[in-house]
Amino acid sequence: MVSDNPAFGCIACGHCMAICPENAVTVNGRTLSESDLFEIPSAEESASFESLYNLLKRRRSVREFKNIEIEEDKINKIIEASSTSPMGIPPSDVNLLIIKGKNKNREFAEDFCSMLEKMKWLVSWWFLAFMRPFWGKSNDELFRGFIKPMINLFTARMREGENLVTYDAPLAIYFYASQYADPADPIIAATTAMYAAESLGLSTCMIGSVHPLIQQGALASKFREKYKIKGKSREGLIVLFGYPAVKYKKGVKRSFCSETTIN
Ligand SMILES: Cc1cc2nc3c(=O)[nH]c(=O)nc-3n(C[C@H](O)[C@H](O)[C@H](O)COP(=O)(O)O)c2cc1C
Repeated sequence: MVSDNPAFGCIACGHCMAICPENAVTVNGRTLSESDLFEIPSAEESASFESLYNLLKRRRSVREFKNIEIEEDKINKIIEASSTSPMGIPPSDVNLLIIKGKNKNREFAEDFCSMLEKMKWLVSWWFLAFMRPFWGKSNDELFRGFIKPMINLFTARMREGENLVTYDAPLAIYFYASQYADPADPIIAATTAMYAAESLGLSTCMIGSVHPLIQQGALASKFREKYKIKGKSREGLIVLFGYPAVKYKKGVKRSFCSETTIN
């Protein structure tokens, strides 16, 4: 509801315009204007639980795509749908890097792997042994058990011509935010984009492995510069999109790690 005394002043959420029964409130400024108002689709026009749940159940991460470009109209729809995402505090601080075409995605992955080749000292035995007392057991285990094998796998396969970073997808979108944004914002936007794409007959795969490795140091900064990435971000996620070259026959039931109810 609209408050007479908002804690943070106007946060450009647009609620006051959207809820006023007389259309008497307009906000101009803070990225908002009257022209941003639209009629809310009726309940009948929107997805039922069953159709939404079926879409959720049909989704699987796909890493093999047909060599078909994604239509501009579909890219626009994905971005438009994703821009409806909620955010910690409006206006949105989420930035999109849209990498169109298989070749550009291959180039992005090759540049990323060349950067990793030069960063291998970060996962050398001497560096990890040196850092362990400073960054603790969990970081040590993360680097030894996940980051080191991942860097080795990406670079070794890329040397053989296989792209395990962006899988030569015809479209990738990197969602990241400013350092002032809630870290969840780009992740929520990426998730919305993923489901929007699924509803358009595309398949997707989220790629979390690039973002953490393009944050720190001079090499990462050069990489961000080349790809016009506006700056560091606390969280970020790439989503790959494409027409699937594989077909799943079955779903696999998932459940959460735990559910605790407090009544
Ligand atoms: C936050 C996040 C990061 C991910 N990062 C990668 C990645 O870097 N590379 C990759 O091949 N898959 C990645 N995935 C896809 C997961 O491996 C995949 O979701 C998981 O295996 C479950 O399969 P499903 O998506 O078909 O249910 C990521 C998924 C999420 C949610």
